[in-house]
Amino acid sequence: MAATPTPLAQTPSTVLVVEPEGAHAASLASPLERHFPLRRAGSAAAAQAALAAGGVQVVVADQRLPDGSGLDLLAAVRERWPDLLRILVTGNGEPAAAGIARGGLFQYLTRPYHPDNLLLTVTNACRFSRLRREHERLLAQRHPGAVHTADLSPDPWDRRQRNWCLDAIVRGPDSPLESICDQLARIAPYDIPVLLTGESGTGKELFARALHESSLRAMQPFVAENCGALPDQLLESELFGHRKGAFTGAIADHVGLFEQADGGTVFLDEIGDVSPAFQVKLLRVLQEGEIRPLGSEQRRRVDVRVVAATNKDLEDAMLSGSFRSDLYYRIAGITLHLPPLRRRPGDLGPVCERLLRDAARAFGTALQHLSPEALAMLERYHWPGNVRELRSELQRMVVLSDGGPTLGPQLLSAKVLGRAALPDAAPAGAGSLKERVEALEAGILSETLTRCGWNKSRAAAELGLSRVGLRNKLARYGLDLTEGDAAAAVSDDR
Ligand SMILES: Nc1ncnc2c1ncn2[C@@H]1O[C@H](COP(=O)(O)OP(=O)(O)O)[C@@H](O)[C@H]1O
Ligand SMILES: [Mg+2]
Repeated sequence: MAATPTPLAQTPSTVLVVEPEGAHAASLASPLERHFPLRRAGSAAAAQAALAAGGVQVVVADQRLPDGSGLDLLAAVRERWPDLLRILVTGNGEPAAAGIARGGLFQYLTRPYHPDNLLLTVTNACRFSRLRREHERLLAQRHPGAVHTADLSPDPWDRRQRNWCLDAIVRGPDSPLESICDQLARIAPYDIPVLLTGESGTGKELFARALHESSLRAMQPFVAENCGALPDQLLESELFGHRKGAFTGAIADHVGLFEQADGGTVFLDEIGDVSPAFQVKLLRVLQEGEIRPLGSEQRRRVDVRVVAATNKDLEDAMLSGSFRSDLYYRIAGITLHLPPLRRRPGDLGPVCERLLRDAARAFGTALQHLSPEALAMLERYHWPGNVRELRSELQRMVVLSDGGPTLGPQLLSAKVLGRAALPDAAPAGAGSLKERVEALEAGILSETLTRCGWNKSRAAAELGLSRVGLRNKLARYGLDLTEGDAAAAVSDDR
């Protein structure tokens, strides 16, 4: 009986056969060579070298190799190339269960085996490999922001899928977000409720999506609701649905987000703003895993993972009685706190780069970069609105610019310039009143000049000074420099 060749034609995976030359030389390779692009290696070392060259999807190894066991080889292969599908052929009896687990085997065969059995096993491995890559491609299509198609090379599957989702979270090399990403990847597969805390714009929703994408629910829906924005009845209808006529204005049945997300994840944003009455309803749903649409008698079972977020201190709210502790413990299986941007100075540069790329794409303009002076000033600002505020600042710079490749400090908004110039110029509690007023004046001059692109006539007009008056003041404060020097002077004395 010969296996049908048709499906094999669609699975052009490359197979590496590892077996000692001589004794069985023909036996492993011969049923396969007509059907697959085949590579051969006569030892474990040769196999590693062949795999390092890339392009192989399936490895079939004989247990007896001149320089070690096939199982040891496959365990080592698993470490370096966890994506490869591994098949072991043993001479005498089954490998121990522990050995199978160690090698992460797709399948093993014991001698004697029918050649078609080997062919079928390898065919299935190739199919599996192809389906997996197809799945990766679909994921990439669904999340173009998070996944770069250039990454679609045969690489560690699990690890990379996880990393893709985390790629959307931009961070510098020593970012405190790194360990949060690690934790997120670790907890993603488990259906434990996660609470994300942090100031507005720190990326709570971004992390919630990454958590969903890294979880086994990734192919199911992710739905988000801002719980702080709606009165109770509307929120209830949004989350749990309603029947036609349930309240004035309910002109048709509505399927709530919990039902829409069935099998997936519900993101409850601003959970700290939910009224005490609604907290009770939410708690019941989470405890029972059932929803009842408004105006309906019927309960419906839903399977969702809940991820909640808040910029409030819920433990405080619990102590003051405004947030129920039983609900808190329901939603805060694990809490991840996202630090604000001002505590992550190493993230600012990379985040700016990503945001500028986004802006260029959104506005259809050429990619622009920040000048070192502009970046230094952005670093001094405290970013109460975090990345969201940074995005609008950079978009503003892009649209105000002349389209040149570099965005200089003169494009920064007054709030960023003011903040960058003032605190160091007017240190709190130091010096006499005269000194402190002068320091403040120097800060204002420097802010205005930077904003006016060191156009002294404009700055003088704005400040209600004559050009001579301005020049005298600049000389007094040592600010009468060229543009680049002046910006550097402002940023260097930090
Ligand atoms: N580390 C980051 N990398 C890239 N974009 C980010 C990052 N943090 C936040 N953002 C972006 O900033 C905006 C605000 O983030 P969001 O998740 O909505 O914040 P929050 O929910 O905490 O208010 C979003 O557009 C988000 O994509
Ligand atoms: Mg948000």
